Amino acid sequence: MNVQEIAEELSRLVQLDADAVVAYDRVIEAIGDGWIATELARFRLDHQRHILELSKALLDMNVRPPEASPDMKGTILGGVTGLRARLGTEQALKAMKPNEELTTSTYARAVAKPFPEEVLELVRRNYADEQRHLAWIERALDQRLWEQERAGAQP
Ligand SMILES: [Fe+2]
Repeated sequence: MNVQEIAEELSRLVQLDADAVVAYDRVIEAIGDGWIATELARFRLDHQRHILELSKALLDMNVRPPEASPDMKGTILGGVTGLRARLGTEQALKAMKPNEELTTSTYARAVAKPFPEEVLELVRRNYADEQRHLAWIERALDQRLWEQERAGAQP
């Protein structure tokens, strides 16, 4: 891959992660306080770290990173744009699941690309974060963790 191809790929990932941050903003607001919202805030922070580290990788290649402004037309926001505050944790997590599926599959494709080793390490770390986020959301929906939250028990 030449520098331009690498830069294009990384810039797309920055945009994807930026959209994910906005999606988490909405979801966390909809859920309100509690340990599930706290967990999702950690995922949001992972996406923010992805943006920073991908941006640094771009700068190291003398490429200016894209402005990480959320693309409201982005597919990632589709499920959460309709969320209203306090809609409920189940709906919020269901809305977030396709987003995490998209970020996970996008990173899965990215790790298969012939990036230079340094870049590949970063992309692999981010991919691992995405797999972890998706697995957590699937488990939360599967085990209806919010019901345990209501009962005051943190598993
Ligand atoms: Fe994620």
